[in-house]
Amino acid sequence: ITVQVNKPGAPVSPIMYGLFFEDINFAADGGLYPELVKNKSFEIQGQHFIGWNALLGAAALQTYTVTTDRPLSATNNHFARLTAAQASPNAGIVNEGFRGMGVKQGAEYTFSVYLRRGPGNVSGLNVTLEEQGRPGSGPVAATAGRVLAQAQIGGLTPEWKKYTVVLKPTATAAKAQLKLTMEGAGTLDLDVVSLFPKDTWNKRENGLRPDLVQLFKDMQPGFLRFPGGCIVEGRTLSERYQWKETIGDVAARVPLINRWNMEFKHRSTPDYYQSFGLGFFEYFQLSEDIGAEPVPILNVGMACQFNSSELAPVTSTAAAGPSAPEAHSHDDDPTLETFIQDALDLVEFANGPASSPWGAKRVAMGHPAPFNLKYIGIGNEQWGPQYLERYEPFMKAVKAKYPNINIVSSAGPAPDGDLFDKATKRLRELKAEVIDEHYYASPEWFRKNAGRYDNYPTTGSKIFAGEYAAQTVAIGSPDNKNSWDTAISEAAFMTGLERNADKVTMASYAPMLAHVDAWQWTPNMIWFDNLRSYGTPNYYVQKLFSLNKGTTMLPVQLSAGARNGQDNLFSSAVADDKTGDIVVKLVNYSAEARPVTVALQGVKKLGKTGKATVLSSPDLNAVNSLDQPLNIAPQEASFKVSSSNVTYTLAPNSFTVLRIPGKR
Ligand code: AHR
Repeated sequence: ITVQVNKPGAPVSPIMYGLFFEDINFAADGGLYPELVKNKSFEIQGQHFIGWNALLGAAALQTYTVTTDRPLSATNNHFARLTAAQASPNAGIVNEGFRGMGVKQGAEYTFSVYLRRGPGNVSGLNVTLEEQGRPGSGPVAATAGRVLAQAQIGGLTPEWKKYTVVLKPTATAAKAQLKLTMEGAGTLDLDVVSLFPKDTWNKRENGLRPDLVQLFKDMQPGFLRFPGGCIVEGRTLSERYQWKETIGDVAARVPLINRWNMEFKHRSTPDYYQSFGLGFFEYFQLSEDIGAEPVPILNVGMACQFNSSELAPVTSTAAAGPSAPEAHSHDDDPTLETFIQDALDLVEFANGPASSPWGAKRVAMGHPAPFNLKYIGIGNEQWGPQYLERYEPFMKAVKAKYPNINIVSSAGPAPDGDLFDKATKRLRELKAEVIDEHYYASPEWFRKNAGRYDNYPTTGSKIFAGEYAAQTVAIGSPDNKNSWDTAISEAAFMTGLERNADKVTMASYAPMLAHVDAWQWTPNMIWFDNLRSYGTPNYYVQKLFSLNKGTTMLPVQLSAGARNGQDNLFSSAVADDKTGDIVVKLVNYSAEARPVTVALQGVKKLGKTGKATVLSSPDLNAVNSLDQPLNIAPQEASFKVSSSNVTYTLAPNSFTVLRIPGKR
């Protein structure tokens, strides 16, 4: 293998490897967003008690209902009303959490609730955190397990008032539940019931789950793409993601059905909603926390192409006039101008001064400094004439007002797609900056397509490999596994992305997160339950590319005339001018160990010791799991460098990163 150290290629994009976040597989509520109460405000349209159950056998509990009688606010206008004719320890309701609540012994959890005393003599609310017992069936009540923490709230008043108490579980439980019962008989109104861990990333009040953020940060991601994925579009336009409804007071954010609700057969209950506790402000903050460029993807005026053909009418090519800083309703009839205006307002929200209407909202949320937004995506996985018709005026309006914002254009699913189909040609004519391609395909496809961008033009639009994952069974099949075969094949493909660093400037694996008890899609990069999480072999491949992205691409030649991937050997190389290393990535997709000689052509000065980081497994079906999170994980070793011909033996079925100290 010859690395042409003396013929450096293009600079590697500083944001080359990033993260794709979508609220699929309980990634947000029940995952990254650690609120433990499901449906805390009783606002889910038509299903106001999702997540809540009345305590069975409670003869004293006459009714529990939602009502709009003098609600907490105009947007949060449903609440629970408990009524008991006589006092009973069973006069109450239980919240099941997101497939249970994960709580840790000795950790602190802030319980808060709005209460209002009605007729009768209710003197307080008993709050009990307990282990979930055997589930109930028919008339048989669910049993409760051990009590983990208890508190009592008193001092009720006839007006709404917020009460807060800290719970400290006496034991760790992966599946707890929250029981709320009345002290005394009569009527009690409840709303915005929250149980939130104090241990969040940066100890923020409305913060995120720290083990997951740590996994993101460890990857040193160049960017964070959010909020999806198909949830950007919604199944219908009225169910589209509207960023303006996800900012401001958390308690006032109105939930929306998730596009992934009830998607696959193994789901048992239709309970997938977006609370928006993790909203656009929090996404920007997360990007900042992990050092990633925020890349919001916005709806182009089209519902998800897999579900409906709903399109926002294109009525004029100009954006609407300045908008008042308020959200849209979900039963509006939006035209394209609505979507364009939302994009313009988003840039102002992220970057505008405190004196601007939307900038003021960011400042009011506690972030006076701009978020320095540089990218927005117009449309997720959309293509064809309907997309172009909307994209063009959209792009022009954004560029007219914000010429420095880079626009990510969409190209749809790409595995079998022509790199230069009609729509892509038109995007290139329109001087699209970055085109977002998605590929979900077999491991073999990934290995075969390592040369996908070898002949792509070096000038004009760049490529964002915005969603990809190797799949062993079928696209999106629930039976796919995050096997070493999928991960090593992605590594092979990624050597092709890196060798074409002058054409490919961004890449992200998708989807990123999945709850082991509540997923709709496989494979996924990081899996978690209510307490634990782990990175898959695919995660470690992403991480190794990201941590070793270097600064300048170096051309690599396999043995004379061989193409990348020939004999199942794949390679790419970069110079890392920050550390003074030559970094060579090698994938040996073969069951045999393979000795290689890496000739560093024209290298000027060599150090004596190199570092090898290796991911490998003899078993291509091997996986990581909650119990064996590091079954496949990077192993480091040093090796001797005695000349510019560096020898190294690649392990069977391995992905190896060689860092060789050497000046160019
Ligand atoms: O990543 C899962 C889905 O795959 C995304 O929501 C969509 O963009 C793609 O089809």
